Amino acid sequence: MSEKKEKKEVEQEVEQEKEMTVMDLPGVGPATADKLSVSGFESLMAIAVATPGELVEASGVGEAAAKKIIAAARTAMRMGFESGIDILKKREKVLKIPCGSSNVNTLLGGGFETGAIVECFGEFGSGKTQIAHDLAVQCQKQDPKAIAVFIDSENTFRPERIIEFSRGAGLDPEKVLGNIKVARAYNSDHQMLLAEKVNDLVTKQNLNVKVVIVDSLTAHFRAEFIGRGTLAERQQKLNKHMHELLRVADTHNVLVYVTNQVMADPSVFFGDPTKSVGGNIVAHASTFRIYLRKGKKGSRVAKLIDSPNLPDGEAPFMVETPCIRDF
Ligand code: GTP
Ligand code: MG
Repeated sequence: MSEKKEKKEVEQEVEQEKEMTVMDLPGVGPATADKLSVSGFESLMAIAVATPGELVEASGVGEAAAKKIIAAARTAMRMGFESGIDILKKREKVLKIPCGSSNVNTLLGGGFETGAIVECFGEFGSGKTQIAHDLAVQCQKQDPKAIAVFIDSENTFRPERIIEFSRGAGLDPEKVLGNIKVARAYNSDHQMLLAEKVNDLVTKQNLNVKVVIVDSLTAHFRAEFIGRGTLAERQQKLNKHMHELLRVADTHNVLVYVTNQVMADPSVFFGDPTKSVGGNIVAHASTFRIYLRKGKKGSRVAKLIDSPNLPDGEAPFMVETPCIRDF
């Protein structure tokens, strides 16, 4: 087959894939599509990787129908094997955005990876928001044209900190601030909408978004869904949000840095009696998970948990006025 013809066919296939939606799956009408969407199964990919049980619970269809829907989604996504070379090529595009502490960067294999979600969880004052500010600056040190997006749910974005970190990094503070797009998220629905809007920044406004920060990921969800009865609904929404963020990370090769609070876990008697909010939903969607705690002499300690390719370990660092640095 000539190369030109092959290219045309690939383009046609891509077009077809673009046009296919959840509603094109067998037995999925508008009502079922709505129910699936509410639970986070709004894309063919989300359905293709779901289990029949999850779809049954989300949409109320029978198990046989759910299996059929998943099979059709898998066919549509042409989910098969890629060669190791293809994966390697994708990995070569991954950037590592360093923060100010080389200890933390080494822990992460060179920096915070693009194309991935990095979840940073820890108690209040452990440095989650400070790292967020640092990344918004450091990505611009690496690439002066980089844009950082800051979705701020707790009103913690501080331009003053950006100015200090910029000076510390030897960058022009005004220019750095100009390349950070900040949006306050007033509730969880608003936060989810803002995550979707990141796509527009890249595709419609042609912005070179390299980092998307969600600080905090879970605060609104935690505040709005109180009590055991609302837990399932909260997790469904959070699942949908995480899928959207994953899609942003994957399609635009962006680092998505999310912060998460910890809560007391009364079932743990030994070790650290805290666990992150959002449980498995957030943990599974995150490629890297960092646990922050306060260390000695005002230091902070970052601990890598659950990484696909790096050894678990710890890195001590300090938050100081002009920078984040090694301890
Ligand atoms: P929560 O959002 O409350 O859960 O905490 P967090 O993990 O986001 O904490 P954050 O990143 O806001 O860290 C706050 C800590 O950073 C403070 O307790 C200070 O130790 C340190 N810090 C913040 N700003 C400055 C600064 O300008 N100079 C110095 N030296 N330290 C700072
Ligand atoms: Mg914070």
